[in-house]
Amino acid sequence: MRRLVAETTLEPRQLVLPMFVADGVAEPRPISSMPGVAQHSLDSLRKTAVEAVTAGVGGIMLFGVPRPEDKDAVGSAASDPHGILNRGLRALAEEVGDSTVVMADTCLDEFTDHGHCGVLAADGAVDNDATLQRYVEMALAQAEAGADLLGTSGMMDGQVGAIRRGLDAAGRIDTGILAYSAKYASAFYGPFREAVGSSLEGDRRTYQQDPANRREAIRELELDLAEGADIVMVKPAMSYLDILREVADRSTVPVAAYQISGEYAMITAAAERGWIDRRGAVLESLLGIRRAGADIVLTYWATEAAHWLS
Ligand code: PBG
Repeated sequence: MRRLVAETTLEPRQLVLPMFVADGVAEPRPISSMPGVAQHSLDSLRKTAVEAVTAGVGGIMLFGVPRPEDKDAVGSAASDPHGILNRGLRALAEEVGDSTVVMADTCLDEFTDHGHCGVLAADGAVDNDATLQRYVEMALAQAEAGADLLGTSGMMDGQVGAIRRGLDAAGRIDTGILAYSAKYASAFYGPFREAVGSSLEGDRRTYQQDPANRREAIRELELDLAEGADIVMVKPAMSYLDILREVADRSTVPVAAYQISGEYAMITAAAERGWIDRRGAVLESLLGIRRAGADIVLTYWATEAAHWLS
């Protein structure tokens, strides 16, 4: 009876697995703040991606972790076809590109030596418009490497429109944009900093949203839709379920939510101590995100949850 009347579904195809590929590693390197998640070698990336796709996940979102010596002020390795992210995308496209959606993180923060999502102006602040040019270069390299969907996680104004125009001008009309429309400056990104070996000092409050604001998220949504977003996202998920509901009610394109590193770490840590039931908590958190309005959920538990669900 409960199955018959359940209002919300959770299916493997709705889940996207974020993955990390690191340059110059022979074996996967565990991320201590995210037990069970690793920075992959190109080999282990392929293997783990196949496992995810076999379990039925709907997509894979890839982040690149360059060697520290390859970082610079403008994040050159991000648009270099031989940069680690583009090599990883090529490997994924080859290995699983016919059976899942290959997504790329289109942001500079992993590749800049200062750790910001854009290039800096002389006063040390992020230069929005100079950054857009770099995003277009990065987007073209990612499309060329085989990415189906570009995740614009940098929160620069005009990034979706600039990337859409750049892709179209290069004939990349089939490459889509997953817009991180409402991305908040969150303390819950903490473990991700270790995951990507971030060099960031300070914070991203000049370009990510203030957790106090709700209306602003709708403004960001409308701008991204007008600029050509194919899917929009709210991030983080758990502390922003009200935003997710509001975005889902208004969006004319599919809506995604990102269950981020800190959300993963909290449930994992509590479960390790025996304080909560891991499987129950994970599935409830994912169902809650779906119920709040997400069509698609990015989660580090994607493969495991897909096994539980099928
Ligand atoms: C930035 C980016 C971040 C995450 C995804 N893309 C970090 C940030 O904005 O500081 C966080 C993901 C997570 O915490 O799981 N390119």
